[in-house]
Amino acid sequence: MLKNKIGKFITFEGADGVGKSTQVQLLFNQLKSEGYPVYVTREPGGTVFAEHIRKILKEQNTLDPIIEILLIFAARRSHFIEVIKPMLSKGYIVISDRFYDSSLVYQGILKEVSIEKIMTLKYMVMKDFEPDLTFVLDMPAETAHLRTSLRHDKNKDIYDDMSIDNYNRVRNGFLKVAQIFSSRAVVINASGRQEMVLKKILKSLKESIS
Ligand code: TYD
Repeated sequence: MLKNKIGKFITFEGADGVGKSTQVQLLFNQLKSEGYPVYVTREPGGTVFAEHIRKILKEQNTLDPIIEILLIFAARRSHFIEVIKPMLSKGYIVISDRFYDSSLVYQGILKEVSIEKIMTLKYMVMKDFEPDLTFVLDMPAETAHLRTSLRHDKNKDIYDDMSIDNYNRVRNGFLKVAQIFSSRAVVINASGRQEMVLKKILKSLKESIS
């Protein structure tokens, strides 16, 4: 009898400017070239509905934190039921550029929405579902901050103009989340060259899910 094909859900987290999107793309290319069924997505976003919400979030810089977290979790519900679950049950490796750890850090730690409220929403949206593996990309705040302040593109968002202090709160927030979820989270020093960072990610990936 055929067993259910269950894929793997890999998330990338970290402060803005640490090179998440680049590593997501590099990992996608590598796994695809090795013949794995692999799908890349992102949060907020990943569905038409959730991408609309992403646009709203990016345009507003004075949103009430409760409205913000509700919008993020509405987007996440759409992403979860329309993309993540179906792709995993088809056996794909799904790689998401951010997931709910970002809510714990940006809305929880930075905007002081209680962790209890966030975990209640998390449970409403996906029950006990967790990523199989989370890469927390880490580098000194000064380096990441410099990278984002050099960005002048249309993707620049409200967080890209963050102070060094807030960057450090975000960085330490992700390190704390990685500690709490140590069974699935791996901290990757992302300061080095892109290829070296990818190498560390691949090594850790093969160790974790082989
Ligand atoms: P990001 O993923 O870094 O993409 P870009 O490269 O376009 O800046 O941007 C998404 C922003 O959304 C990021 O600054 C963090 C924020 N965010 C939250 O505040 N909470 C969340 O739950 C998620 C997923 C993202």
